[in-house]
Amino acid sequence: MNVLVIGNGAREHALCWKIKQSPLLKELYNLPYSDAINEIAISVNISTLDFEKIYNFCLEKNIDFVIVGPEEPLSKGIADYLALRGIMVFGPKRQGAMLEASKQVAKEFMQRNFIPTADFKIIYNSQEAKKQIKSEKYPIVIKVDGLASGKGVRICNNEEEAISTIKDFMEDKIFGSSGSKIIIEEYLKGYECSVMAIVDSKRFLILPVSKDHKRLLDGDNGPNTGGMGAICPLSIEEDLLEEIKNEIMWRFIVGIGRERILYQGIIYAGLMITEKGPKVLEFNCRFGDPETQSILPLIKEDLLEILWQAAKGKLEKEKLEILDEKCVSVVISSKGYPFNPIKGDEIEGLDEVENDIIIFHSGTKKVNGKYITNGGRVLSLSALGKNFKEAREKVYRNIKNIKFNGMHYRRDIGNGYK
Ligand code: AMP
Ligand code: GLY
Repeated sequence: MNVLVIGNGAREHALCWKIKQSPLLKELYNLPYSDAINEIAISVNISTLDFEKIYNFCLEKNIDFVIVGPEEPLSKGIADYLALRGIMVFGPKRQGAMLEASKQVAKEFMQRNFIPTADFKIIYNSQEAKKQIKSEKYPIVIKVDGLASGKGVRICNNEEEAISTIKDFMEDKIFGSSGSKIIIEEYLKGYECSVMAIVDSKRFLILPVSKDHKRLLDGDNGPNTGGMGAICPLSIEEDLLEEIKNEIMWRFIVGIGRERILYQGIIYAGLMITEKGPKVLEFNCRFGDPETQSILPLIKEDLLEILWQAAKGKLEKEKLEILDEKCVSVVISSKGYPFNPIKGDEIEGLDEVENDIIIFHSGTKKVNGKYITNGGRVLSLSALGKNFKEAREKVYRNIKNIKFNGMHYRRDIGNGYK
């Protein structure tokens, strides 16, 4: 089949890399343009939000299947638009994508469907918010309702921090209209992991559990980012996995069924494993980035076939075959990320990494035949090993060969995992 992957970050580079291995694939297309993805697919410069142009491109190239990476086109209804016109899409329709695009929608969905999550209140204006925070027990978590690239969440240790957060989110609107409502949430203690499943609306196929590293600096310090590295698979106890399947994934499936939400795509649950069991911090309606870069290298099966089955509403497998190895992915970011990333520096040493290291590009472009930086998160490097230690050593040994001005990466991705 002819396949179009929408989105041009490292996650979509990884999706293209994996789909490229499928015997079902005829031609692979991608948008918007990426020099790196163009090395393995035909990449074209169409915006992810220009649905009409995307549809026309699908007609022109006889695209059989569209796979959507990022949340923005999903939350704006790309799956509705293309499906209405007879094109098969992997990715939920707008109503399902709202589970990521609005934390209020997600929290209320979880509440109605008995999915465990932190206690919360929705607040509609800053006066009400300032009143509310007087009666809270600290720490609390304050989140903007709308999309903010993973940055619209702050843990506030006292009233002063809460007031300055309310000012930023609701009065100065640093995330625009995303902050016109906020969620004040109970602070949960535990450890975090990411659980994704491929959903066909009636069934789900769970992907190996992974762990993101969201803070910019080693030891989980510094500001929140889109994600600085990931490891997979996290070995979690059988009982816990059963609890996640039964109390989160099945209740999600029952919930979308009851609420008549047609959902053919990824459900990503960002979890906190607390003393009282797993609780959902957030839902995303798409593959995680950088988790995907650490999950896909482990999957033995034909991903394209499985995504196609899900899009048709007919997942056939109950369990994925994965390699008996561990994967560590480290993100390299540019100076100034996540606030003011600096672009335009030449990247050296991309050819000097070992053959079995997989490099996925996000913020790069080619000028005069050489890659330069072109965004906040620049590259992800993934390595497999028989254990995390081996995979970690491999990835860090190779990262040393890559150089650009102001390059930053965390040195502790996967530390402490065997
Ligand atoms: P979110 O975008 O909602 O996943 O939040 C981003 C990050 O903030 C999470 O990965 C957690 O590290 C932290 N966080 C969010 N909600 C909570 C909570 N209720 N309790 C503790 N930490 C949280
Ligand atoms: N890694 C977090 C996310 O994709 O939202």
